[in-house]
Amino acid sequence: MLRLAIQKSGRLSEDSLKLIRECGISFITSSLKLKTESTNFPLEILYLRDDDIPGYVADGVADIGIVGENVLVEEGYQALAVEKLGFSKCRLSLAVPKADDYESVQDLNGKNIATSYPNLLQAFLSERGVQVNIHTISGSVEIAPSIGLADAICDIVSSGSTLISNGLREVERVFNSQAVLIANDGLTAEKRELLDKLLFRIHAVQRASR
Ligand code: PRP
Ligand code: ZN
Ligand code: MG
Repeated sequence: MLRLAIQKSGRLSEDSLKLIRECGISFITSSLKLKTESTNFPLEILYLRDDDIPGYVADGVADIGIVGENVLVEEGYQALAVEKLGFSKCRLSLAVPKADDYESVQDLNGKNIATSYPNLLQAFLSERGVQVNIHTISGSVEIAPSIGLADAICDIVSSGSTLISNGLREVERVFNSQAVLIANDGLTAEKRELLDKLLFRIHAVQRASR
């Protein structure tokens, strides 16, 4: 049996479940259960916090997982990537209060920036020779400027509506992301075979939707 970890609730959850269903894999979901078994494929699905998925797959608690590249790269687990899935596309961007003057990334020198992605942000700014104070917070990043916690933020943007509702303006794209399939690097031959079967079906789904 292959164990797949997907996001419990969030931008990736629905699209991940949809992909598995389109692969002809049936299962019953309940919002209260954190684990479910397929009725027609040797697959068990674990519903987890997205941030925890790369670590669980690296440790072998789950065999494979679906997670955003943003989380994967931030946590330094790029080596687990098997393939990009083409859905849940989003970007990690820097944003400032919409009335603020902003001409270039140099304007951020010495500023306080709130983010849940300190590593991706640091890499982007270091490459450009910009020095800031990064405040790492795990959620509700977009309210930081309005409560005086930061001058700017760096967070995930998809439709852009969260930025607009919080009076922010996107000024730099730091990282482009989409869903990616990841796998533990020490899968048994049996599990590897199941993963290959699943990949075969995923490719068929992708071809059909192009
Ligand atoms: C991101 C981000 C915003 C939202 C932006 O959260 O933190 O809350 O998406 O989307 P929008 O541009 O369409 O308004 P995410 O879904 O990644 O969840 P998480 O931060 O709770 O993991
Ligand atoms: Zn998250
Ligand atoms: Mg969020």
